[in-house]
Amino acid sequence: MPTERRSLIMLFGGTGDLAIRKLYPAMFKLYQKGNIRDHFAVIGSSRYKVDDAKFREMVEKSVAKESSDKKLIANFASHFYFVTHDVTDLAHYAVLKSKIEELDKKYELQGNRVFYISMAPNFFGTVAKNIKNQNLLSSDGFNRLVIEKPFGRDFESASELNNELSAAFDENQIFRIDHYLGKEMIQNIEAIRFGNTIFEALWNNRYIDNVQVTLAEKLGVEERAGYYDNSGALRDMVQNHIMQIVSLLAMEQPVAFKDTDIRAEKVKALRSLRVYNVAEASSNFVRGQYAAMGNGKEYRQEDGVPKDSNTETFVAGKLMFDNYRWSGTPFYIRTGKKLADKFTRVDVVFKKPLVDIFAFPQSGSAPLTANVLTIFIEPNQGFSLTVNAKNSEQGFHTEPVSLKFLEDSKRTKETPQPYERLIHDVLKGDGTNFASWPEVASAWKFVDQIRRVWDIQQPIFPNYIPGSMGPVSADELLARDHREWVYKLNQ
Ligand code: BG6
Repeated sequence: MPTERRSLIMLFGGTGDLAIRKLYPAMFKLYQKGNIRDHFAVIGSSRYKVDDAKFREMVEKSVAKESSDKKLIANFASHFYFVTHDVTDLAHYAVLKSKIEELDKKYELQGNRVFYISMAPNFFGTVAKNIKNQNLLSSDGFNRLVIEKPFGRDFESASELNNELSAAFDENQIFRIDHYLGKEMIQNIEAIRFGNTIFEALWNNRYIDNVQVTLAEKLGVEERAGYYDNSGALRDMVQNHIMQIVSLLAMEQPVAFKDTDIRAEKVKALRSLRVYNVAEASSNFVRGQYAAMGNGKEYRQEDGVPKDSNTETFVAGKLMFDNYRWSGTPFYIRTGKKLADKFTRVDVVFKKPLVDIFAFPQSGSAPLTANVLTIFIEPNQGFSLTVNAKNSEQGFHTEPVSLKFLEDSKRTKETPQPYERLIHDVLKGDGTNFASWPEVASAWKFVDQIRRVWDIQQPIFPNYIPGSMGPVSADELLARDHREWVYKLNQ
């Protein structure tokens, strides 16, 4: 049986979409596996008037697809309580406090408390402040704060928010969610890098020509136009998910595999990322917005999007690290909505052999290709390595072949989902897979420069068709450097 994690989980935003779609099913998985058992309680809160019975019904419904064992589901839901709560009304915190204390006794939680804020970001600071000022923190167990994204909308607002949170919680008590860090294959990057001499020995600018990170989405903005139009792909995907992936790919080997050491290396990597000046930002980043196609509307016609919106639904860029390991090796990144497919992958392109002895004039051999290590993050989980080998025909001709490992679909299906891993990490107090403040700060400083330039330049939108891999300028970005994306359409 796994270790039981005792805690109260105080969830602000308990009737919200994230809670229903992701958090309750994730908690249920932990319950099924025994990570949480008898000694846990969840208080959901929101503005709505819901009683415990109604709340438990919502919870049961949200986890129904996870199990056919109705009794188990009912037992799980019996640990859930609801308190109607206006986060700006101090009197409501007194009600929460007494509920927390009551449940602490009832379930013998030993004063362990997780405060999970899954609400509109403008409330993050207020809630954190009131948790402290209204004495919701325990004095005997642990107190941890979980914050959903977005963490600010630029460096300045993120700093303000961080100051508010730090007034109530220490950095090691704050768990900033980036759900990409909960993904199996993102976590696997460290195993691949630091568990294999053949990669780690070559993991630098002498042997790697470039690195490519692609986070492609097939859907458009759907019902989230209100949020998305204020954010755009740069803030929504690059500042957080892509920067986190890049830092895992670029960092030095940590002293030990533990959160403080890993975070220290990620920060060092991000701090050596070149922050672009205006000219560099405009030449190294391109943006796009999707056009209409078939029955699909163009972005500017989507419900809730202003007709003259200049919000980007696609970004591609080139990142340069000014450090000994990476100087001269670009990291290309791209992400967008309404692209050809939904997938995430990393392609590490090694340098070609300096001399191609097989390509003498009469050989008929095609030139050697670069070795590429592809890490398939989603939907497939695995990796492949292309190597040049002799083909089996008469004569001596080389061709690239692929060494490939893909997790079978059963295991992929059984892989814990990000929120299950991340909630478990919070209960364990392991901050490895959360973004630390210095990481977030460096990422914003980089992204802010791109945003600044884009805010004063008028884009020509729409500029890519749904089902493509973004605007032509994303291909030109690499072509200019005599390179191309490893993943191309129709592969
Ligand atoms: C979220 C973004 O953080 O990540 C969404 O706000 C995006 O716009 C989503 O669709 C993608 O996550 P995933 O796990 O589906 O790749």
